[in-house]
Amino acid sequence: MAIQKVGVVGCGLMGSGIAQVSAAAGSQVVVCELATEVLEKGFARIEGSLRKLVSKEKLTATQCEETLARFSKTQKLEDLADCDLVIEAITENLEAKKSLFASLGGICKPEAIFASNTSSFPIEEMATASGRPERFVGLHFFNPVPLMKLVEVIRHEGVSSEVIEEARAFGKAVGKVAILAPDTPGFVVNRLLVPLLLEAVRMVERGDATVEDVDTGMTLGCGHPMGPITLLDYVGLDTTLFIVEGWHARYPDNPLFEPPAVLRSMVKDGKLGRKSGQGFYRWDGDKRA
Ligand code: 3HC
Repeated sequence: MAIQKVGVVGCGLMGSGIAQVSAAAGSQVVVCELATEVLEKGFARIEGSLRKLVSKEKLTATQCEETLARFSKTQKLEDLADCDLVIEAITENLEAKKSLFASLGGICKPEAIFASNTSSFPIEEMATASGRPERFVGLHFFNPVPLMKLVEVIRHEGVSSEVIEEARAFGKAVGKVAILAPDTPGFVVNRLLVPLLLEAVRMVERGDATVEDVDTGMTLGCGHPMGPITLLDYVGLDTTLFIVEGWHARYPDNPLFEPPAVLRSMVKDGKLGRKSGQGFYRWDGDKRA
């Protein structure tokens, strides 16, 4: 594997998952997270997930310990200086991401590859801000990262084909199937998934079908592991609203990107889904109550 040392910036749900699969694949991983509480919670999540995989015999106890030993934690970007690949998974704020990559551009070795796990922003804007667009790529993982088998490799105009190949090889090394995706809203998966989730909400909003019937329809009728409303709760109503509001602002004439009123009001009321314990369903930790 050409990429031996990986930096992950941000240790929330996605960052911790990306760090976990990178370490499990044999890379040294430096996790950079400014908020101590988020860092500690992220590491508890990584440890919990690895132990769960051991209990399910998907990992041996030795592999679990070896994986944990490959991590280091930091609150300083300077500690990412000698990483071969730095993956950003901070909160979805374009200006914050651009400023992070501008700083990393001055800190990391010139041959390092930069990647963003953004689900909603144009890769090209961050690539330009980094000062090394030819070594910048989108690497979009799916939640829960340790279990979902896909990664989207997002190609923008300025990236070199060598970096695309290295990103694809990294995706494979961390146990994912990599698909090539365009630098357009939602790339491939969210471009199809988000309109589906929103249409499910609109059906419920209009009173056409109940929450339960929409979900049963798509699980039993189409074989989806979770119905769209459950998945919306699982991903987070706020996350989905945030994605679609960004697209709506950029493409106001596209009716697929129109945020449903009920989604806005639920988020305003703090009903965010799994993370707040209440969305369209009630949640008890990671399970629907
Ligand atoms: N690490 C290790 N184990 C985990 C885990 C993790 N992170 N998350 C869940 N598990 C375990 C559970 O604890 C459970 O163990 P148990 O059997 O001992 O209770 C086991 O995996 C199976 O989980 P569930 O019982 O919850 O049952 P499922 O069979 O439904 O599997 C699932 C869970 C893989 C999440 C499946 O429901 C699924 O594929 N759902 C769809 C998820 C999806 O679509 N994700 C993409 C969202 S979109 C996205 O991420 C893009 C972003 O940009 C918005």
